[in-house]
Amino acid sequence: MSTTLSLTRPDDWHLHLRDGDALRAVLPHSARQFARAIVMPNLRPPVTTTALALDYRRRILDARPHEGPGADFQPLMTLYLTDRTPPDEMRRAREAGIVALKLYPAGATTNSDAGVTDLRKTYATLEAMQREGLLLLVHGEVTDADIDLFDREAVFIERVMQPLRRDFPELKVVFEHLTTREGAQYVQAADRYTAATLTPQHLLYNRNAIFLNGLQPHLYCLPVLKGEEHRRALVQAAVSGHPRFFLGTDSAPHAAALKEQAGGHAGCYSALSALELYAEVFDAAGALDKLEAFASFHGADFYGLPRNRGTVTLKREPWQLPQTVPFGEATLKPLRGGETLAWRVVQ
Ligand code: DOR
Ligand code: ZN
Repeated sequence: MSTTLSLTRPDDWHLHLRDGDALRAVLPHSARQFARAIVMPNLRPPVTTTALALDYRRRILDARPHEGPGADFQPLMTLYLTDRTPPDEMRRAREAGIVALKLYPAGATTNSDAGVTDLRKTYATLEAMQREGLLLLVHGEVTDADIDLFDREAVFIERVMQPLRRDFPELKVVFEHLTTREGAQYVQAADRYTAATLTPQHLLYNRNAIFLNGLQPHLYCLPVLKGEEHRRALVQAAVSGHPRFFLGTDSAPHAAALKEQAGGHAGCYSALSALELYAEVFDAAGALDKLEAFASFHGADFYGLPRNRGTVTLKREPWQLPQTVPFGEATLKPLRGGETLAWRVVQ
């Protein structure tokens, strides 16, 4: 059984870095493992314009370690799509190096109040994105009150993805943090313009984990974890070698106190040990040989960006993840905090 595994440096195709002290606390964790990351725009206020994204990019670059691992980390910037995003902003965005826009259905998740209320309102902007080669990253859940929370993704496929694909066949769309068998089947059957990211928590846990041994607020994220048959379908998709499934942690830090209160916030913080957690999933499936393409090739290829140079090395070596890490004035509880992990990144 191999004990070390060297991979081309991976990228994280879905990451929340926040801002200010929080940004400075979490950025080094991602930068140590990943060469690049797609940075989510759901700040308060949201990153809705090229100018705001370029300012945010500067703050991220300033928060990087000055030397050593992570000093060359590159944030890939996104804009937050609203009902009123002007189509002519798309050319400016592309020229400034913005790679994608994020679709949050209004009310679907953290800081989504400014999100899209009806996709038809964005059609002129989607047309401009398709023309400019900007990607659309979707939080794939409907928010209608009559739809069961666990069915939100499956209904999104029918009500939003199908018309979107029909009307913008050459717009590249990433179905972010996929959580269901229906979603995996949809992406597998789609053409080369549709891909999906998979998070560590949706590959490792099913919804039972939220309720076992008392309520587990640190396993509450959106879209919420689904049943075991869905988790298995996601693992199958991840380890299949299919080029349109790739790594996107959705690492989403919230102060522990805000997750542990009534009305606790959604999001799992996985950046501290993301690659190790994916290695565990691929190892358990007997598919460590498929990890590199999933983590380091498929995303870059889909985005039309060069693959990274350099490598990271994972070692099969038990180590204990800290219970908490500092998060500005607060603390953060990482996914699996306090537990022993089987794999470790040793650079
Ligand atoms: O669990 C989540 N947390 N899901 C999201 O879509 C947003 C994220 C956050 O920003 O905290
Ligand atoms: Zn997210």
